[in-house]
Amino acid sequence: MLGNRTFTMIKPDAVAKNNIGNILAMINNAGFKIIALKYTQLSREQAGTFYEVHKERPFYTELVEFMSSGPIVAAILEKNNAVADFRTLIGATDPAEAAENTIRKKYAESKGKNAVHGSDSDENAQIEGSFFFSGLERF
Ligand code: CDP
Ligand code: MG
Repeated sequence: MLGNRTFTMIKPDAVAKNNIGNILAMINNAGFKIIALKYTQLSREQAGTFYEVHKERPFYTELVEFMSSGPIVAAILEKNNAVADFRTLIGATDPAEAAENTIRKKYAESKGKNAVHGSDSDENAQIEGSFFFSGLERF
């Protein structure tokens, strides 16, 4: 299974703009299977823990505030080469630098409010998926 799963969130900006369905459709159309799915809202504390790796970065406080500001959709996705292929599908962190037909190019509004999260490694995909989902919630 290693290398076949990644974790994503549809961030509060994209949820607020009614783009949940559009983004899930792009994910499915790119060949990812949805293994787990949840519509929820993070507390500040939970968002802070999720992004703890960035806690020394200048954007951390703003990121935690934004990610707890409204509901998000969390999902575990399965596909061969899932982590790398999903990073390609979402595009660069800054939508101004994202390639055409990527999720961030189509739906992100700024480098901070950038529509989606995607894990950066197999190890983090496992950690992040387990932050949101128990074994009973994966299919
Ligand atoms: O999400 P990604 O892996 O592309 O970027 P990151 O470097 O891991 O940063 C995590 C998140 O922090 C980004 O998706 C942005 O929402 C936010 N960020 C920001 O607000 N300003 C930056 N200069 C870099 C990241
Ligand atoms: Mg990252």
